[in-house]
Amino acid sequence: MDADLDLAARRIVAARYVVAMTGAGLSVESGIPPFRGPGGLWTKYGEPPMNGYERFLADPKKAWEDRLNPQGPMRELWEALARAEPNPGHRALVQLEDAGVLRATITQNVDNLHRLAGSRSLLEIHGNATLIRCVTCVARYERDAIDYAILPPRCPRCDGLLKSDTVSFGEPIPPDVLEACSMAADRADCMIVAGTSATVYPAAGFPIAIADRGGDLIEVNPYPSDLTPLCRMTLMGPAGEVLPALAARVLALR
Ligand code: APR
Repeated sequence: MDADLDLAARRIVAARYVVAMTGAGLSVESGIPPFRGPGGLWTKYGEPPMNGYERFLADPKKAWEDRLNPQGPMRELWEALARAEPNPGHRALVQLEDAGVLRATITQNVDNLHRLAGSRSLLEIHGNATLIRCVTCVARYERDAIDYAILPPRCPRCDGLLKSDTVSFGEPIPPDVLEACSMAADRADCMIVAGTSATVYPAAGFPIAIADRGGDLIEVNPYPSDLTPLCRMTLMGPAGEVLPALAARVLALR
């Protein structure tokens, strides 16, 4: 690991434009279960239906009742999110951002932990569970700023339908965040890929495009993923331990 950390740090320092992409594995050490693999919610409960958004549009009142009174995997997920705090992995990415090394963090996580850790150039491609979004004008509101007395709640700005900002299966990624993610990934010649199985698109397409262009992928994951064969190197360990060690090496080299 020592030699690998050194090599990875040198690749990051030598890169022109570094971005990070994170997934559920980054928040495992904050007490939030991943979706797939050992201890995964979908491993335990089975993959959810892929038409979540269609079902929301078909009966938004019921979808909101379920959202406000979650059962099964969603109950387990929201309860874990409510207790979670950022871990050293989240904070290491903030350190790299503060040092000007990391230009943007694309996260698939809806757990708000990157924000709580202090990430600023943060792109939440699957949304944020503490926010509510209008499906018409894409305005976003703090969850607690909305009145849920009448369901489904309506957008204060355009009277459109409000839903959780989290992107449901089958829902298109909101255009503003998708464009920002694509721009960041298009500029990158190096991506730190931490805690993702890289199986869900369009997010999984970003590191593949960077590798196709000859860029470096530095993976942090205790287990091999679909991306591992494309990576310059994989640092096999928990993100909460590996990312702080990697950040320390990078900052020592600058
Ligand atoms: N540190 C780093 N990585 C870890 C750790 C850890 N402590 N523990 C597990 N992992 C790795 C696993 O090996 C796995 O490769 O994190 C990855 C988690 O993969 P998934 O559970 O598939 O999560 P993710 O890639 O974020 O899923 C993508 O799928 O269900 C949807 O919308 C959901 O955003 C999510 C998307």
